[in-house]
Amino acid sequence: MSPEIDLSVSLLNHTFRNPVIPAAGPNVGSGEMIRRSAEGGAGGLLAKTISSVAAPVPRPNMVRVGKDSLLNTELWSEYAPERWFESEYGIAQAAAREYGLPLIASIGYTAEDLSTLGPRLQKIGIDMIEYSIHYLDTTRLLETARALRDAVTIPVIAKLSSHAGDLGEIAKVLDPYVDGFTCINSFGPTLTIDINKVTPPMGSKYGYGWLSGAAIKPMAVRSVFEVARVTDKPVIGVGGVTCGEDVIEFFMAGASLVEVCTAAILKGPGVYGRIAQETGQWLSTHGYSRLEDVRGLYLNKFREGQPVVTEVELTARVDESRCNACSVCGKVCQFDALSAPLKQIARVDVSKCSACGLCVSVCPFDALELVRR
Ligand SMILES: Cc1cc2nc3c(=O)[nH]c(=O)nc-3n(C[C@H](O)[C@H](O)[C@H](O)COP(=O)(O)O)c2cc1C
Repeated sequence: MSPEIDLSVSLLNHTFRNPVIPAAGPNVGSGEMIRRSAEGGAGGLLAKTISSVAAPVPRPNMVRVGKDSLLNTELWSEYAPERWFESEYGIAQAAAREYGLPLIASIGYTAEDLSTLGPRLQKIGIDMIEYSIHYLDTTRLLETARALRDAVTIPVIAKLSSHAGDLGEIAKVLDPYVDGFTCINSFGPTLTIDINKVTPPMGSKYGYGWLSGAAIKPMAVRSVFEVARVTDKPVIGVGGVTCGEDVIEFFMAGASLVEVCTAAILKGPGVYGRIAQETGQWLSTHGYSRLEDVRGLYLNKFREGQPVVTEVELTARVDESRCNACSVCGKVCQFDALSAPLKQIARVDVSKCSACGLCVSVCPFDALELVRR
């Protein structure tokens, strides 16, 4: 990475050494795991969600789906709060001090939980609190936000879940009580079935679990955009971040920081540092010297939306110097407009092309683009 790229992020009076921090999950399920995140290059630290009682977690509770996604039914920490206050936060704080990183604690769920746990976290010197609305009846959104705001003076970040409804509208309601937002928690509930055994891989009542990882990234990017459109407060993006380009995408949508859970579970804590390094590399290759320069690029350009064109004004065009005659585009064309037998340069029949854009997105060689007819 070129040395002039500054990846540090200043957020709510704290400095993160880079924009990639852990999201709440087993990857930060103990003081020791939090320490490993710091060793793995995370730009700041975050601890697994705790509540007033230990979570009764079904077993099994994690299964990989596809290459980069998971279903889980882990709920919140299986350690009672006492264990966190007696040992785990201490270990995490020691790691935070050693690496010079801010430490965010995560809590849930009722107003009573938040107003009890919040002040205890502030008292031991936690830097910020992220609280989750995941298991909350949405009629309680206001009461919980108010309860935590009244209980602490350190920054409070609301972590939003897609199943709660329109996140832009929810952000507007919570805005007066919080200092920032995190979008999004895992999506669901969802179901996957082991068809050989006719059983669910999850031990929850109906086998349901929450989906995370690459599968939810477009939903997460949209949520960041939607929330960033209605607030000036920082938005943390989370959902499917696996590489530096994902960080850039979240930042362009308006994020100020990203969190990573699934990729850290599947690939280990070294992913935080690797993703941060790739982010720096991308910036440097594309002529940017600061992360701040890409933040909000998409948000500001498309805040009000774009004109929707329904006429077929464009057509696919093949750059013959790039086409590798791989035939991929021909297979996906649903309009019989692309003739691409294997080992032959692809050809477009402009009269049939519907300008859907799919071939452009699947070409492995960047040999297709949409141009005016
Ligand atoms: C196994 C597992 C456990 C999780 N536990 C929590 C939790 O305790 N609190 C929380 O707010 N989110 C929890 N999450 C959600 C993640 O923090 C994150 O919001 C979500 O997984 C999307 O990010 P990702 O695609 O990088 O995993 C959990 C996710 C997974 C996969």
